[in-house]
Amino acid sequence: MRIAAVCLGNICRSPMADIVLRKLLADTDIEVASCGTGDWHVGKPMDPRTAEVLEAAGYDPSQHRAQQFGPDWYDYDLILVMDSTNRADVLAQLPPDRHDRVRLFRDFDPDDPGADTPDPYWSGPEEFEAVLEIIERTSRALIDELALDAV
Ligand code: 4NP
Repeated sequence: MRIAAVCLGNICRSPMADIVLRKLLADTDIEVASCGTGDWHVGKPMDPRTAEVLEAAGYDPSQHRAQQFGPDWYDYDLILVMDSTNRADVLAQLPPDRHDRVRLFRDFDPDDPGADTPDPYWSGPEEFEAVLEIIERTSRALIDELALDAV
């Protein structure tokens, strides 16, 4: 099974979801990756503010390089979009027979199901910390709900 997290730039939200899920699923054969619908940052490391909060929380952000959503991603089994704009952009290109693989990431958030994951790009460091908290909580709930740790 392969899981893709998708945001806009692939330097803030989806890299966090990628790294958090990857760590939680390290003992399974589930692969986790991430990409953005935009191409501005392709090949670049994540935003230094994202890397900083991840590092402070014990994750290794150093290997990430931004990628863009496109045909290489159509075969992922679960495509987790971080907000409703990302969902619209993904559904606009994904073949219709695969639309049921797309889920809003925070559909799994027990505290605020169905919310968008706020984009911290234009905000200060405290917003990056808040987003990591949302992503850690939602990732744990997602794994429980889909029983992925039992794989
Ligand atoms: P992300 O945040 O989608 O969470 O990675 C953004 C990153 C870059 C831009 C916008 C949002 N940008 O406009 O470059």
